[in-house]
Order: sequence, then C-alpha cells, then structure tokens
Amino acid sequence: MILPIIAYGSNVLNVKASPVDTEDTNLDKLIEDMWETMYNANGVGLAAPQIGESLRLFVIDASPFAQDEDLAHEETEFLKDFKRVFVNPKIMAETGEEFSFTEGCLSIPNIREDVSRKEKITIQFLDEQFEEQILTLDGLAARVVQHEYDHIEGILFTDRLSPLKRRLLKGKLSNISKGNINSDYKMRFLAKKTRK
Ligand code: NI
Repeated sequence: MILPIIAYGSNVLNVKASPVDTEDTNLDKLIEDMWETMYNANGVGLAAPQIGESLRLFVIDASPFAQDEDLAHEETEFLKDFKRVFVNPKIMAETGEEFSFTEGCLSIPNIREDVSRKEKITIQFLDEQFEEQILTLDGLAARVVQHEYDHIEGILFTDRLSPLKRRLLKGKLSNISKGNINSDYKMRFLAKKTRK
C-alpha cells in the first residue's frame, strides 16, 4: 500500500525515533508498504518517520545511482545491488574526509542542496529477518545511509546547512509545510491535509 509521505514541518520528522519491537507482527507489512511508497516516489531511501511511524527503521535501494557515469566502475557495481532493510541500526564509526554531495529528500520536495558528511561509516543493524549485520560503506552508499540514519535521529538535511542557506530557504520550507507545493506523489502536511 502506498502511504502518504510526511512533509517538512511535521514534528514526527524532528524527534528521535523509538527502537523497533522485533516481535511486532505488523512489521513485514510496514516494510512492504515502505518499499512500495519509496519506489512510487522514485526515492532511493525512506525512513519510517517519513510515513508517520516514529521507529528506528529505514529502507534503501541505491541502484538508481549505478547509472551515474561519474562514478568508478567498482562503486556502480556495488550500488546496483545495494538494496537493504535497516532495523534498529547503529552507526559505530564515521571516518575519512568530509565531502560535499547534493542531497534531496522525499519529505522536502523540490529542494536540493549540498551537504557535507564524512566519507566512510560502519553500521550495525538487523536485516528484515532480524539477523544482525555489520557493514562498512563509503561513497554514495554511506551517504544514503547517513541521510536515512539522520531521519531516525530526527535530523533533516536542511538542519545541516549553514544558517545563511537555511535563511534563504525559509520561504520555500514554509510553503512545503503548508502544502503549497506540487509533488508527484501523495504527501501529508502539517495542516493534516493530504494532497496529490
Ligand atoms: Ni530524506
């Protein structure tokens, strides 16, 4: 089932999410709905708070980045199969140089800005079978995970911009929170309206 994506401005996007209860029998359905919602919106990642569930859970399919001709062959080969469910993840380490990359977010349509983050991470998490996994990632794979991980910490990419940049975006962000925007997918706004 395709769910409306929560737009910038709603509190659920600004709070630290709670751990997933792995005994919860509704979890499979929730994960299935998150995939469907993400693909419908042409996203590469979606975190549970973005569909209104304040849970430490996100899904990522970075395969669209494999089309990027600027990337090394080795990285595109990895990205084309980088499809994962992250349950109760914990970033253990973030290392390397900071690099800048243009990020967007399904909760903040039509805004894309350069965000600086470290290049390499090690993350521990449960997969969809609740098997423990540890991955060390770099480049765009790390980047997408860092962005989604921020969501479950209640942080949006716009929170990582300079105060000046944020000030310049204030009007646009305010319009998003009020629903005064066009998006290609269903969204839910602060004012509780759902609009296509
Ligand atoms: Ni996002």
